[in-house]
Amino acid sequence: MEQRAEVSAGWADQALELCLKRTGRNIESIGEHFPHVAYDGVYNDQGPEFWVSGFWPGLLWLYYGETGDERALHLARRLEDRMDQVLDGFVTLHHDVGFMWLPSAVADYKFTGNRASRVRGLKAASHLAGRFNLAGRFIRAWTDEVDPHSTGWAIIDSLMNLPLLFWASKEMKDPRFYHIAKAHADTVLRCFVRPDHTTAHIVSFDPFTGEKIENLGGQGKGPDSAWARGQAWLIYGMAIAFRETGDKVFLEAAGNAADYFLEHLPEDQVPWWDFCADPEDRFVLDSSASACTASGLLEISSMEESEEKRDFYYGKALQILKGLCEHHWDEREKSQSMLLHGTVNYAKKKHVNVPIIYGDYYFMEALIKLRHSVKIF
Ligand code: GLY
Repeated sequence: MEQRAEVSAGWADQALELCLKRTGRNIESIGEHFPHVAYDGVYNDQGPEFWVSGFWPGLLWLYYGETGDERALHLARRLEDRMDQVLDGFVTLHHDVGFMWLPSAVADYKFTGNRASRVRGLKAASHLAGRFNLAGRFIRAWTDEVDPHSTGWAIIDSLMNLPLLFWASKEMKDPRFYHIAKAHADTVLRCFVRPDHTTAHIVSFDPFTGEKIENLGGQGKGPDSAWARGQAWLIYGMAIAFRETGDKVFLEAAGNAADYFLEHLPEDQVPWWDFCADPEDRFVLDSSASACTASGLLEISSMEESEEKRDFYYGKALQILKGLCEHHWDEREKSQSMLLHGTVNYAKKKHVNVPIIYGDYYFMEALIKLRHSVKIF
């Protein structure tokens, strides 16, 4: 409880103000682009089809919710319009339609009631539901356009796309979407999560019989390692699965996965990109995993029955956010980016120890949750 008072009085509010200031300035300097990673404090433009395209509009909606600055609304709408070519183009679509259209179109609909945004969200949800493999009870991750051998592949990241299905189910009063989301979450528990509560990144199934074949490496060190951001997706995704279904196995899984993450965090609160990293690779960090986990821990803490657990996970979320502020905030006055030291894919040596747009997004989301004790999605 004391910690909660400390937050309303102090550093977390200041950190949020800094994020808002930077986002307000980025309206002009990033503008109508789709940022992914930043070098020298300047974000690149990865285009509307890449899976991260929803995060900049998402930051704009978070900012709009706090400030009411209409410039953010108009820019988010222009970005949303540009994403239509991807939604309607169809062939490059994949499971990450949740990451793309939840923080953009669904956020727009929730803030403003925009009917065109609602339709976009429902189209994206229909696509996600259509990726469900009935035999294996999983949502297929990628498309042949990306990897022709991925027909039977599911990945841990998909858990974070399920809120789109839960939203569509309520919006349409149609439980089909709910059943698919819950079935996929059940499959993750059965086929991804190991006895030590870590997760595989990719699981390969026989797409015809639905039998699990094997774990695959993906963005972590290897098939049997514990990729830090995958663990964050598991924590947050399982918390949402519990919030939406009330099935306690999901909350238990979220807590267990969180305990693993927390037990392996260094003092500065940012893990190596993989908890099983070799000593020579331990310079590679992932702040985005910490930001996402902090936001997920706030969800867990709001739903645990015991006060002891609620306070524990709340306190740990604070500790992570404070560590991010003190050791990983991009201090450079002119930077567009907020959090340093994120890693996209060290397995392929892509974008190592750099700011990443979803790190900034989950950081700001968590700070807003702290300020208002609110659910964002
Ligand atoms: N969804 C891919 C990643 O987390 O990098």
